[in-house]
Amino acid sequence: MIRWLTAGESHGECMLALIEGLPAGLAVDADFINQELSRRQQGYGRGARMGIEKDTARILSGIKNNRTLGSPVALLVPNRDCSIDDLPGFTAPRPGHADLAGMHKYDFEDGRCVLERASARETVARVAAGALCKLFLRELGITLRSRTVSVGGCTNRAAQRKRIDRARKKGDTLGGIFEVIAEHLPVGLGSYVQYDRRLDARLAAALVSIPAVKGVEFGLGFAAADRYGSQAHDRIYYQEGRGYYRRTNNAGGLEGGMTNGQPLVCRCAMKPIATLQKPLPTVDVKSKKTVPASVQRSDIAAVEAAAVVGEAMAATVLTDACLERFGQDNLKMIKKTFRQA
Ligand SMILES: Cc1cc2nc3c(=O)[nH]c(=O)nc-3n(C[C@H](O)[C@H](O)[C@H](O)COP(=O)(O)O)c2cc1C
Repeated sequence: MIRWLTAGESHGECMLALIEGLPAGLAVDADFINQELSRRQQGYGRGARMGIEKDTARILSGIKNNRTLGSPVALLVPNRDCSIDDLPGFTAPRPGHADLAGMHKYDFEDGRCVLERASARETVARVAAGALCKLFLRELGITLRSRTVSVGGCTNRAAQRKRIDRARKKGDTLGGIFEVIAEHLPVGLGSYVQYDRRLDARLAAALVSIPAVKGVEFGLGFAAADRYGSQAHDRIYYQEGRGYYRRTNNAGGLEGGMTNGQPLVCRCAMKPIATLQKPLPTVDVKSKKTVPASVQRSDIAAVEAAAVVGEAMAATVLTDACLERFGQDNLKMIKKTFRQA
């Protein structure tokens, strides 16, 4: 099983990911990691920060001649803007952010002390870790992709852009929905035997941990609640040579906390970005007077970027589940067990 952590502040020296449990013998393609980091930086509606940073990873440990050794892999992504000690503090916590509760919990008068770690810049490290996991999954033929379903309620790309432009003009922000799809999954990842082994629960926890993600659904998701069972569940068919199959995928590839061989389809709802250029009223923690919330450099919408983070988080969970099922030590053995399963 993998264990992983991230470290780093938004405007500190760097973002770090430390991943333990990847098998030995996995070819590490640094270009692929950097492509994933670049995908996270893109999307219509991003703020000025993305024009400053050019995220590229340095692999500090865990590999020799571009192959994993089975030891912990440390990845470092430098921050170009590392002005943490020079940036002004603030005492007007932003509604929708960790600011107020974080200042109370850690006893800070300066909201920046919270912002620096609570910022979604941390997702750089997640995407770097997720890229390694994707490389592992690729060895088993498992692929992940994502798409933006809607931004501010608009499903059409041109309409999304218009809505983002309008929000920008008004000093406002937007959220949206993105979908993560994993294909060519083996049957039986996860388990029904214990609550914490259910793959749906593990995926939901990983996806909801993405900043601003407030809802996750699989397959039909919430819409299934309004249907008859006969219209919700995917009938089982069998054909010689093909085996068991379905003609629908309302379950989104998961039944009983396990993969059922269908594509995994997860959808995530992202709330609107919480930093508004036309700020909401808040309370200054020093004066206790009503003031406009602090304004920081910020995205207007980041659904496309969040989708890339969603892929990365799903990749870490699927990697974990594959290692659990097919072995952990070296890629050769895992591939052999995978083929026999
Ligand atoms: C890829 C990505 C980029 C984000 N960019 C911003 C941003 O520029 N400004 C902002 O206020 N929030 C941004 N967020 C969302 C905040 O990080 C998040 O809403 C905040 O940390 C509070 O956490 P919560 O919404 O989960 O409660 C972004 C989230 C993601 C996933």
